[in-house]
Amino acid sequence: MGLMASIFPLCAQTPVYLDDTKPVEERVEDALSRMTVAEKVAMTHAQSKFCSPGVPRLGIPEFWMTDGPHGIRPEVLWDEWDQAGWTNDSCVAYPALTCLAATWDKELSLLYGKSIGEEARYRNKTVILGPGINIYRTPLNGRNFEYMGEDPYLAGQMVVPYIKGVQENGVAACVKHYALNNHEMNRHTTNVIVDDRALYEIYLPAFKAAVQQGDAWAIMGSYNQYKNQHGCHNQYLLNDILKGEWGFDGVVVSDWGGVHNTDEAITNGLDMEFGSWTDGLSNGASNAYDNYYLANPYLERINSGQVGTTELDDKARRILRLAFRTNMDRNRPYGSMRSPEHYAAARQIGADGIVLLQNNGRVLPIQLNDQPKIAVIGENAVKMMTVGGGSSSLKVQREVSPLEGIQNRAKGVATVAYARGYVGDASGEYNGVITGQDLSDNRTAAELIAEAVELARSSDYVIFVGGLNKSKHQDCEDSDRAGLELPYNQDELIRALAKANKNLTVVNVSGNAVAMPWVKEVPAIVQAWFLGSEAGNSIASVLFGDINPSGKLPFTFPAKLEDVPAHLLGEYPGTPDENGIFQQHYNEGIFVGYRWTDKQKKTKPLFPFGHGLSYTTFAYGKATADQKSMTPDGQIIITVPIKNTGDRAGQEIVQLYISDKKSSLPRPVKELKGFEKIHLHPGEEQLVTFTIDKDALCYFDDVQHEWVAEPGKFEAIVASSAADIRSVVPFELQ
Ligand code: BGC
Repeated sequence: MGLMASIFPLCAQTPVYLDDTKPVEERVEDALSRMTVAEKVAMTHAQSKFCSPGVPRLGIPEFWMTDGPHGIRPEVLWDEWDQAGWTNDSCVAYPALTCLAATWDKELSLLYGKSIGEEARYRNKTVILGPGINIYRTPLNGRNFEYMGEDPYLAGQMVVPYIKGVQENGVAACVKHYALNNHEMNRHTTNVIVDDRALYEIYLPAFKAAVQQGDAWAIMGSYNQYKNQHGCHNQYLLNDILKGEWGFDGVVVSDWGGVHNTDEAITNGLDMEFGSWTDGLSNGASNAYDNYYLANPYLERINSGQVGTTELDDKARRILRLAFRTNMDRNRPYGSMRSPEHYAAARQIGADGIVLLQNNGRVLPIQLNDQPKIAVIGENAVKMMTVGGGSSSLKVQREVSPLEGIQNRAKGVATVAYARGYVGDASGEYNGVITGQDLSDNRTAAELIAEAVELARSSDYVIFVGGLNKSKHQDCEDSDRAGLELPYNQDELIRALAKANKNLTVVNVSGNAVAMPWVKEVPAIVQAWFLGSEAGNSIASVLFGDINPSGKLPFTFPAKLEDVPAHLLGEYPGTPDENGIFQQHYNEGIFVGYRWTDKQKKTKPLFPFGHGLSYTTFAYGKATADQKSMTPDGQIIITVPIKNTGDRAGQEIVQLYISDKKSSLPRPVKELKGFEKIHLHPGEEQLVTFTIDKDALCYFDDVQHEWVAEPGKFEAIVASSAADIRSVVPFELQ
């Protein structure tokens, strides 16, 4: 018997809101009818850093939030960001969401959501503040690592299972940051100016999928403004689109400190206010939370008759619904923490998201026949990456570094030696969580390179592990990168290593594209992301061929920053107006990522969207359609045979793009509308099928404000990456 049932036995007198045989909406109305105005207002704002009150008088429990999105954040003090000092709040860190997106594997996304949801449930959290799905617009965005790449369809497909996995646990996913939070610099003082086509075709579809297909129970407003209103109380984004057009019935949670105005917070779609900086807070008043925009100021407006209670009832209904879906669901599972299954999930997602960018001369996988000498070089081979980066920083039970992973795997079959190569950021602290690593090193760059080169010369294989880290102006919240280049003199070091040893692999650890001026000098390049607790094991399994790499890029690696439309056409970061608000036009419109590369044709990216190699090879047969033309409410089925023509088992991500051959409005050359990840043994062949319906053919008509599929000629393009087209099937929409 559940706790609720033991306190209020189910009998004739049981209030409807406690009777879980009754429909949720009936329970919501019943609870609402018993609440005072003050109780409703109390529910709409925080009472501590991460929690808001329920209704104690009615036995409705508190709501506890936690970051998200890569693991469960350690406990902080009631009213401080400092650590609460718990000794049992370490977690499993899962790979960053860029890595999850790079798996292109919906089942792994479900596993990710289920696993992190179990950890959240075990820690008694109501809401995970994640996943993040802001579109990758510029490689300078310090927070891209927390998101799912540049393509709205890929992000939408990958976010849905994550949400479902989390919410199976009776824990809400809070999808963030809605919307147009595409970089970090000036994040509180940027007003995005974007046309409706780009808004609806590029920046909103993943959120729409999260709401309509994922049934997300919560969504987080963004810091930036749109149409001169903050994302956390935005009439257009929250009321008109999210709750109006999409029918969202969950709660809108503010980002921490994202609320700025009581009147807008009341009317423009916000339901729960968190993290505001009030005078009370900075002056240390004990009633700081009562000073929130949706606290006493709201109550005063109601009591004086300035505003009514219609909006309040709507907010309270949504919050009650959240309670019945989560904390008050007596059938929800209990969760689990740091289980072997969770580590296995983290490891598999990490390995399957790693992208083999280049493998000239088949340097990889490393052959272990003759006891090779392996040199591991670079700070990121040893640096803990789960601490830092902002709110996604974690306190982990363990983290296997790339060096440890390689050493463990090579034990007895190879010798491994390490040289630092460069010193990046030797610090390791976030919010009081301290890695305890002493990475200080006072040697000069020349000394570090000399040592690394000497080691490289005397080794059979060299694995350089570098890239970015989680420090400010790298992959880190609240700041952007200064440029596309690798920091800390790594380019010079890599070039020296390439000269010293022809069997060089560069493992780039980052959540962002980086420039690779040495791309022609280095035979093997691996994109390894921030991989969490099992990082080293995931990396080693790919380098040594225990796992055949199968990840593909969820965003374009541009050759240079000027090839990125946000930088070429502007604007980034926009120009401040007389009030200090950066008015930022998204001049590139719908032409983001590969949509831009395809359009301007002139420049080749360093690595295209959807690119990723394998240790085996796949042959694509000719794609065919089951019919030549479709009716507006019909479908076309595209079939393509894929064969593993190499000598080891592997996975291939087969991509389907649609091209509209003639349309009234400008359209991208092609757009991703389907993908399948298939596993094939050597010699095995499989037929992959895609179903195309009208949705895949539509553009957003900004004049009529609706999705339109124009009759005429289309092409179904089957490809291995956005730049590697294998088969084209023309068809017609009647
Ligand atoms: C971040 C959110 C995060 C929140 C709570 C904010 O600074 O933007 O993503 O969930 O803090 O830590």
